[in-house]
Parts: sequence; C-alpha cells; structure tokens
Amino acid sequence: MTILVTGAAGFIGSNFVLDWFEHSKEDVVSLDLLTYAGNLENLSSLNNNSHHHFLKGNIGDRELVSQLLQKYQVRAVLNFAAESHVDRSISGPGDFIETNIVGTYNLLDSVRAYWDGLDESSNKAFRFLHVSTDEVYGSLEKSNPAFTETNRYEPNSPYSASKAASDHLVRAWYHTYGLPVVTTNCSNNYGPYHFPEKLIPLCILNALNGKPLPIYGDGQQIRDWLYVKDHCSAIRTVLEKGQLGETYNVGGWNEKANIEVVKTLCSILDELKPKSDGSKYETQVTYVKDRPGHDRRYAIDATKLEKELAWKPNETFETGIRKTVEWYLNNQAWVDHVVSGEYKNWIEKQYS
Ligand code: NAD
Ligand code: DAU
Repeated sequence: MTILVTGAAGFIGSNFVLDWFEHSKEDVVSLDLLTYAGNLENLSSLNNNSHHHFLKGNIGDRELVSQLLQKYQVRAVLNFAAESHVDRSISGPGDFIETNIVGTYNLLDSVRAYWDGLDESSNKAFRFLHVSTDEVYGSLEKSNPAFTETNRYEPNSPYSASKAASDHLVRAWYHTYGLPVVTTNCSNNYGPYHFPEKLIPLCILNALNGKPLPIYGDGQQIRDWLYVKDHCSAIRTVLEKGQLGETYNVGGWNEKANIEVVKTLCSILDELKPKSDGSKYETQVTYVKDRPGHDRRYAIDATKLEKELAWKPNETFETGIRKTVEWYLNNQAWVDHVVSGEYKNWIEKQYS
C-alpha cells in the first residue's frame, strides 16, 4: 500500500513524510512543485530509502496525478500542497487562487476518477485528507471562546479565503460524489525546516545575524502554537480513525502574543548562544508597520480530536520552542542554502 503526500517538500509536508517513516513501512509518493517554499533538502535523509518516491509536479496536473495514483495504487492522498504565507497572499494573491483553489479542484477531480475505478474494498478503504488552517474561522476577540469545528467560516486574508474555498470544495466532493474525505484545521506550526519568512524562524535567524526582529503593529496579536511533530501525529490519527466528511481542529492550547514568542526566542538564544558584546537579543526587537487586515487572535479548541480520536500533543510550547531554536543552531548548512537566492528578494521587498 502507498500514500500520496502533496506539498511534501514544504515545512509540514516534509516533517510529515519523515515522521511517517518513523511509524510505518508503507511507501510514500511525494509530489511537490518545488516552489520557493519547497526544498528537497528537507527530505535528503530519505535519499536511499526505496520506500520513498519523489516527483516534481503540480497538484493541478491531472494527467500526472492520475498516472501516479494508478502506478502506485495509492490508498490515501494527503493534501499539504498550498501557497501558505499570508504576507505573500497580500502582495500577490494570484498564486493562492491558482494552487489553493483551482489546484485543489483539479486534484479532487483526478482523485475522484481514480477512486471511482477502484474495486469495492479499495474504494471503501480509500481516504482523501485535506490539510487546512484555523485561519478560515477569521479573528477572535480576547474574550471569545476558542474556535470549534462549528464556528462560521470568516476568512480575512487572500490566503485564508483561498484555504476556506478549498475546504468547501473538499466538503462538496464528499456530499455530492461521496469521495471519502476528512479535513484538519490546525493552528500555527513551528519546528524544524520552517521556511524563514514566517515569524519564528525569521526572528531566530535575524537575531543571530544582528538584524532587527520585526514585530508587526503592537505585537499583541495572539497565535496558538503547535509543534510540527504534534501536527503530524494528529494527521496520522485522523487518517486512521477520522469519520468521513468530518473536520477536526488541531491545536496545542498554547496561545501566545507575538511579542511574547519573540522575547522567549531571545532569552533561549541568550542562554544557548550569548552575544559576544554581552547585550541581549531582545534589544533587536523593532516595531514595524502592521500587516493589512491582520487577524488579532486565533485559538483552537481541539476537544473533538482529543475526545473522539484520543489524540494529544507531546510538546508544550516551552519544550517545543527550545527544540526548535536548537535545531536552527545545529543546522547552519540548511539555513545557508535556504537564505540564498529568492529569499533575499522577498526579505528586501517586505521589510525595506
Ligand atoms: P509551505 O509553504 O512550507 O509548503 C508548501 C509546499 O507546497 C511547498 O513545498 C511547495 O513547493 C508546494 N506546492 C505549492 N504549490 C504547489 C502545487 N501547485 N503543486 C504541488 N506542490 C505545490 O507550507 P506549510 O507551512 O508546510 O503548510 C502545508 C499545509 O498546511 C498548507 O496547506 C497550509 O495551508 C497548511 N497549514 C499550515 C500551517 C502552518 O503553521 N504552517 C498551519 C495550519 C495549516
Ligand atoms: O494559523 C495557521 C497559519 O499560521 C497557517 O495557516 C499559515 O500557513 C502560516 O503561515 C501561519 O500564518 P501566520 O500569518 O499566523 O504566520 P506568520 O509566521 O506569518 O505570522 C505569525 C504572527 O506574527 C502573525 O500575527 C504576524 C506576525 N508577524 C509575522 C512576521 C512574518 C510579525 O509580527 N512580524 C513578521 O515579520
């Protein structure tokens, strides 16, 4: 048996594939377009693993996807592929519409055609797991309860609107065609292989390079942080035990204001890699212009996943963030490769 993982060279997709092989002997076909966010180096430890098959390609390429599904007799598709950075969706929404909406539509239709042709038992056992985000629910006030699966969709950015649209398509393919789908809506991930355009890796690298740590607006926006390996275990759990047509919120009950996250990073760095001039990394914090339409607070209520499927996270924010800082300190070669090239152009455009 084989699973197909799309977006497998990205941050969460690559963590998922690596995590999969720690728990299973089942083959994985990794499909990734290798956009700026895709990095084959994330999967380099699998280079000699004959159970791993990587293909560069687009989820929207129906011919390619159909061939892959047939050739490897895939029993489940896990869709991580997406444009994922909110700031990029503000400066250029087109790719988000193309991949997250049109791409998901094409993927769903290719998968449906394959699934329709399976024999009865394979057809019954097949799964399409769509990886989505808490951002589809919009923004919370401080006093509001955390998002549950029944919250209304109120996306506010081009990114979250495109993910919301993809969730709706997945839902429709279940209700209309009976495609056996499950969807996960997760909070902010952090951990190894996180592309340094996102807050946590950006601030770790900027701190070490003596650059400003850019805090949008007043830094009091709240995100609910989950260590990426805990997201991977949640996805494995939902794939195995999730009810068809259901959605599951995934989160670690770790709400933190952005400024608090950055100050925590600074104090771990002060301890693990003190600055030679004796100053504290926190002095590099710089408040900058806010993100347009910036959502104030996200918080995930993961009770359904915990109660119905018996999942719980392994890491607290304190243990996960320390592991993350240590990973970046110990993986300088990965960092050096990532920050050359296109990355430089983005940082210059976004923060100049
Ligand atoms: P990422 O940007 O790091 O990786 C996305 C991957 O998808 C990249 O490898 C990219 O090359 C690939 N890709 C893009 N367009 C493609 C296409 N048309 N066909 C094939 N591959 C394509 O993103 P991530 O942070 O790993 O997020 C993965 C998924 O999880 C996304 O769907 C995202 O919406 C969702 N999610 C992310 C977070 C988070 O905190 N990062 C939280 C919840 C949900
Ligand atoms: O909630 C899940 C989402 O988390 C995922 O769906 C997205 O794919 C993922 O990118 C992430 O979105 P955010 O916008 O929350 O992540 P980001 O790391 O870009 O920003 C985290 C917070 O930090 C957010 O409030 C904006 C703020 N920020 C970000 C950057 C890049 C800053 O203050 N300064 C920055 O330079």
